This record gives sequence, C-alpha cells and structure tokens, in this order.
Amino acid sequence: MALAESPMEAEEEARFAPLYKVTAKVNGTPRTAEVEARTLLVHFLRENLGLTGTHIGCDTTNCGACAVLLDGKAVKSCTILAVQADGRDVMTVEGLEKDGKLHAIQEGFHEEHGLQCGFCTPGMMMTSVAFLSKHSNPTEGDIRHAIAGNLCRCTGYLNIIKSVQYAARKMRESKGGGSA
Ligand code: FES
Ligand code: FES
Repeated sequence: MALAESPMEAEEEARFAPLYKVTAKVNGTPRTAEVEARTLLVHFLRENLGLTGTHIGCDTTNCGACAVLLDGKAVKSCTILAVQADGRDVMTVEGLEKDGKLHAIQEGFHEEHGLQCGFCTPGMMMTSVAFLSKHSNPTEGDIRHAIAGNLCRCTGYLNIIKSVQYAARKMRESKGGGSA
C-alpha cells in the first residue's frame, strides 16, 4: 500500500482502515471490540473497553506501566497487538480484587507503602502477580530481577520489594505454607 502523502491523506486512510473483531476474556468476562490491525492491546483495553487502570508510560516497551497478564504471563501491552489477544485470557489490574477483597499484592503495596504517585503501580503489581505464581518464596534478588523491566520514577524500589515480599508471605500463608 502506498504511503499517505499528507496528514489529511493519513487521516482519510485511517478512517477507511479495515476493522477486525477481537474477543478476549478480560478479567473473566468475554469482551469484544472492533479494532484496526495496528491497534495495540493497551489501547484496546483503555479505549475500547474503558479499563484505564493499565497505564501508558512510554509506548516504547521500556517502562512496564502497561503490564497485564496474557494467558497468565506478564506482557507489556504496548508491545502486543490487540488482534493477538483474540481468543485469549487477559487480566488487568482491575481483575485483582475479588468480591471486595484486595489481592495480596494490592494489600502488600498498601501495607508497605509501595507507591507514591502510583503511575507504575498497576504494571508493578501485574508483573509481580505473574512472578509470584511461579515463585512462592523468592529472595530479594529474585524480586529485583523479576521487576527489572518495570520502572518507578518516584518511590525508589525498597518499599516495592517489601510489598512483593509481603504478598509472597500472605500467599504462602493462605496456601498453608510451602516454598518455591
Ligand atoms: Fe508499555 Fe511503557 S507503556 S512499556
Ligand atoms: Fe510513581 Fe512509581 S510510584 S512512578
């Protein structure tokens, strides 16, 4: 396809770009929207589904603010096309709380003061949830490694690590103990 020569032409092209139907199970509920082939998963979640808890901090796969779970794995949703999520399970920060009860990771960030402005927090939590599902008794080094792709610009990382440790402890206790 020839490239648009002017902004007006580009706008015109966008208006007539073909749409693709995407249906994903988002936080346990099937959600459908029609999107362009180029639509990123983060835009599908925020703009088509109104789930604005997933943040956009860079748009260049750098900061991790947009992390969500795709089939249980943490992914940067600014790096995945919405069409790639078709037929798959997506979990966003909005899906953490269940029946009015905070997830252990949310409780951890609250109890250990793991956030300041909160911009990085949804991504930090989703990355941590995926990590903790495979590592129930992580060392501090393991946690630092796990969140290396998530940037926090204001709290420093100490309380974030304590928050993840808190969640790991809580999750072990609720399972009646056990280690990685
Ligand atoms: Fe996706 Fe920064 S917005 S990595
Ligand atoms: Fe502000 Fe992390 S709490 S960017």
